[in-house]
Amino acid sequence: MAAGVSDEIAFRHRFWRASGRPGSGCLIRRLPSPISGRDSNMLKTMSSKDDPIALFRAWFDEAEAAEPVNPNACALATADADRQPSSRMVLLKAFDERGFVFYSNLESRKARELEQNPRASLCFYWKSLARQVRIDGAVELVADDEADAYFATRDRDSQIGAWASRQSRVMKTQFDLEKEVARTAARFGFDEIPRPAFWSGYRVRPERIEFWQEKHFRLHERIEYCAADEGWTVRRLYP
Ligand SMILES: Cc1cc2nc3c(=O)[nH]c(=O)nc-3n(C[C@H](O)[C@H](O)[C@H](O)COP(=O)(O)O)c2cc1C
Repeated sequence: MAAGVSDEIAFRHRFWRASGRPGSGCLIRRLPSPISGRDSNMLKTMSSKDDPIALFRAWFDEAEAAEPVNPNACALATADADRQPSSRMVLLKAFDERGFVFYSNLESRKARELEQNPRASLCFYWKSLARQVRIDGAVELVADDEADAYFATRDRDSQIGAWASRQSRVMKTQFDLEKEVARTAARFGFDEIPRPAFWSGYRVRPERIEFWQEKHFRLHERIEYCAADEGWTVRRLYP
């Protein structure tokens, strides 16, 4: 972890202790933390003003250096046919000009919702950098060979877990899952474990990408990119 980032975290912890715990009303205190990005100007520091994927890559690299746990975690929002939204965390496993990829069970609630309404929104929040990125767009399944290649890189226990979990369905006891894990392990023995047909990746094809950088006095910086016929349009939004 970069020294600046660990200093920042230590500062926040000291501030929280010094300011006292909130009472039963659970007052949430604002933390006046010094974060380097607060003094920067996003567009001025960007190497390519026209390329949100390049900017995402630069921010993601910084998040990987700064966030101690799961810098690739993001909230995935979907909505069902009745327009009821739901959200949950997923891990981003790949991204490029085509879009942003996560993997999941194709019989889960999110999968049902994506079948009914193949659109989604991803939201990253990198606390240590005080940055948020929101990505909205249409969703499609990745190609089978892409999913197979990714599945092959997972640890064996995670491969077994993918087979054993009937994600989002009702389960009587945790022991049911453990039995299924044992059955799956016995079934494959020492063989290579193939990707289950009910498990694959989704790619969110970005139509809108918004970068948000916290600034002093809530004068935060927001840059919105929208996909155009050729390339992207870019504009600033009030915070
Ligand atoms: C940090 C974090 C990362 C997660 N990553 C994934 C993931 O990549 N894929 C996945 O299917 N579930 C992931 N989960 C679990 C989901 O949040 C969720 O519980 C699960 O996918 C079932 O969601 P659903 O019922 O809405 O389909 C993750 C949870 C957390 C807290």
